[in-house]
Amino acid sequence: MFEIPLTETTLDEEEVEAATRVLRSKWLTMGAEVAAFEQEFAAAIGTREAIAVSNGTVALELSLRALGLGQGDEVILPTITFIACLNAVRLCGATAVLADVTSEDDLTISIEDVKRKITERTCAIIPMAHSGFPPDMTALMRLANGGRNIAVIEDGCHAPLAEIAGRKIGAFGIAGCWSFFGNKNMTTGEGGMITTNDPDFAARVRLMRSHGITKTTWDRARGHASSYDVALVGTNARMDEVRAAIGRVQLRKLPGANEGRRNFSGQLRAALAKKNITGLVIPFTRHQGTSSHHLLCVLLPEDASRDRVMDEMKSRGVQTSIHYPPLNGFGGTRSYFESGKWVEELPVTKRIAGRILTLPLSPTFEQQVAERVATALDESVKAAR
Ligand SMILES: Cc1ncc(COP(=O)(O)O)c(C=O)c1O
Repeated sequence: MFEIPLTETTLDEEEVEAATRVLRSKWLTMGAEVAAFEQEFAAAIGTREAIAVSNGTVALELSLRALGLGQGDEVILPTITFIACLNAVRLCGATAVLADVTSEDDLTISIEDVKRKITERTCAIIPMAHSGFPPDMTALMRLANGGRNIAVIEDGCHAPLAEIAGRKIGAFGIAGCWSFFGNKNMTTGEGGMITTNDPDFAARVRLMRSHGITKTTWDRARGHASSYDVALVGTNARMDEVRAAIGRVQLRKLPGANEGRRNFSGQLRAALAKKNITGLVIPFTRHQGTSSHHLLCVLLPEDASRDRVMDEMKSRGVQTSIHYPPLNGFGGTRSYFESGKWVEELPVTKRIAGRILTLPLSPTFEQQVAERVATALDESVKAAR
């Protein structure tokens, strides 16, 4: 265990009580709690509908499947995003195309590079609000809607309640995809959500989440239905009542938790600036929107070994991570993308991929943690040059 872990949750007695209430009710599978969580989440994001699912990866995959994407269809992803985005595309049988990230300051998808990567086969784009900072959604939506009507599936997993151009992330595209994994701004342990303003898309996702079956067990238990039909090919991607009850409490706490993250993030940025570490870049200093401050990533100086810095941080009791190695940098993905070509086409990724380092960030951390992390990073970079 680290003295300063990467993050901490905000779980307390409220979630224990919510989970216990559901257990005592003896109705555990998708029912009234899930329905209430969906309504409350949709209201928080500002979409007509929200559909709870078992995790964020399935949210992405179901969104792609509900759009009918498959073989021959191209989906554009940023290089620096979580592997779930690529896996969802590959599981559907579609083809993933990489777009570079914008700059050292903006680790979200480069709109200019998306423009270059669009072909006649492009059917979807999956932007991701890296660290909680939304991409330029106005420009991206203009590009997607101009001409070919390309679907935008927003990966909002880092960014619940984050905004750009006066609108919440997850309310721009046909779908917003969410994860409530244990390290997220709000958690249900495992869990996910899809937000949308499109009722037909929502209806398809709802069917696909539960085997394509037209009536749920909850409908039948309440006597609202005695039988069911199967309308399309689906799976079991349902959320359960215990998670939904925990999620509802976490959602109520989310504005406060995001504010706590913003405070600590400000303290850590200020503490790092005071250290004046030559060559260190702290991204998103010029961002125009409202972040949910999920992560605080830095780019290490070019002459410091990241492995060495991470070891030095560890020896000082500070956990660090990497968000993320580029999608084309893994053993199981390298050969999938055309070998070598990306090196020419993804210059920002090439420049920063080996330098990204995630520092601890939690709404529960206080000023002294910021000072300790900044001091540890200063010492670790010196040792690793
Ligand atoms: C950016 C991003 N996309 C997708 C996912 C996938 O979510 P899950 O872990 O709930 O499947 C995550 C969560 O880890 C994530 O951070």
